[in-house]
Amino acid sequence: MVGRRVRSRRKWRRVLGVLAELEERCATPVGKLKQVVDAMAVEMHAGLASEGGSKLKMLLTFVDRLPSGSEKGTYYALDVGGTNFRILRVQLGGQRSSILEPHVEQQAVPAHVMTSTSENLFDLIASALKEFVDRGEDGSKTLVSRRGELGFTFSFPVKQRSVSSGILIKCTKGLHIEDMVSQVRREVTECLEQAMSRKRLNMRVAVLVNDTVGTLALGHYHDEDTVAAVIFGTGTNACYWERTDAIIKCQGLLTTFGGMVINMEWGNFWSSHFPSTSYDTDLDSHSSSPNDQGFEKMISGMYLGEAVRRVLLRMSRESDIFGTVPSRLSVPFIFSLTGLMNATEFHGIPLFNFRIPMISAMHEDDSPELIEVARILEDDLEIPDVPLKVRKLIVKLCNVVTRRAARLAAAGIVGILKKIGRDGSGGITGGRTRSDVKMRRTVVAIEGSLYTSYTMFREYLHEALWEILGEDIAPHVILKVIEDGPGIGAALLAATYSKDSVCG
Ligand code: BGC
Repeated sequence: MVGRRVRSRRKWRRVLGVLAELEERCATPVGKLKQVVDAMAVEMHAGLASEGGSKLKMLLTFVDRLPSGSEKGTYYALDVGGTNFRILRVQLGGQRSSILEPHVEQQAVPAHVMTSTSENLFDLIASALKEFVDRGEDGSKTLVSRRGELGFTFSFPVKQRSVSSGILIKCTKGLHIEDMVSQVRREVTECLEQAMSRKRLNMRVAVLVNDTVGTLALGHYHDEDTVAAVIFGTGTNACYWERTDAIIKCQGLLTTFGGMVINMEWGNFWSSHFPSTSYDTDLDSHSSSPNDQGFEKMISGMYLGEAVRRVLLRMSRESDIFGTVPSRLSVPFIFSLTGLMNATEFHGIPLFNFRIPMISAMHEDDSPELIEVARILEDDLEIPDVPLKVRKLIVKLCNVVTRRAARLAAAGIVGILKKIGRDGSGGITGGRTRSDVKMRRTVVAIEGSLYTSYTMFREYLHEALWEILGEDIAPHVILKVIEDGPGIGAALLAATYSKDSVCG
């Protein structure tokens, strides 16, 4: 009896040791965050200097003007970002802020389509779009007499040839369409336009944009001080407005207003200063994209729960916190999934709709008995009767992983501000000191449920932003949630570019 108690205490100490070690490795003191800030700004420079000069692709978007506010008319947007797609009809009233109630429809992309062919994917989307258009504004069947203009948001890394065309560089977030990334790459807009003509849908893709770019467009439409946009959702990424002369890799680039939106694809950022652990290394090597999307794997909604699962699995193997090791704990991405039915596998990873709520619900459970944690463990992981002290440990674990993610995310944002001289330091080439610099109001548009629905993530991010920038500068930097940015922003850009032909 006594022997068993001693053994049990020893095992518990081992578990606490695992947590303490993780906490130490995941530490992000402000000094480390500032190193990440610098690394981000330096890599941005390198990615703009030459093609392949950095892990940051710094992709040209050919969006060289943002909506002015005078856009008028009805435009469509299609927002394809992963496991769901959204279709919107947006009416623009011609005065800034007069976007009439957009009409939005959302559909899931079945897991088997996510890993099939471009024809299957785009036929599914074009059918839904056709039905949506045919139903018309008031729900009755109306025929579209004139050709519709579409803003197409495709939230994956695309190398653009013009504002309305480009090829997919690689798949992220569980999408795997072989014929789009194989040697003869299919042009993204062409795939959609061919599917639309198969469905006899009279519509033209006016712009092909990343979700960050749509969000920047809508953010800027409402507030002209908006200089960058960041997505924190299943995946993560940022874009910002860059001066043409800083885009060194594209000499002679002609732009309307002396600048262009750059899609950073920051999910692929990596720095030796990252507080990386063996769990991150394992997560990466077992992922469908080893050595890729390192920043995304530390930050985004698709991966946060997976990091938590890996630590919990180790804890349960090293001790008896759950009795025997629960089988569901061995299922990759179980904390990020919406359902366990009809799973398709991709590189050993089951594909479902990814979600964040499981870890945020556990993390933010403020009931003294941690009822929500117990419920999730029992219902989703099939682990009943977990003692309170173990439930408390799980909350701490979620806290360590999410806090690191949010603080790194803040460093990423300040990295952009530093690159464009809006962090109060005079930029990476300037030698000015904080007191010399008059800080302008700077708005960063933010979208994505990791930020909007996960309070602890948001609070940790804000806290770190203040720590890094200091209290003189931080009040000038405003993070503004832009709901439906990827969709409405794309419709706005379709309006902005509606008369343009291909320009690349
Ligand atoms: C994609 C980006 C996208 C981001 C947010 C990443 O996985 O590579 O293009 O902007 O997710 O949706």
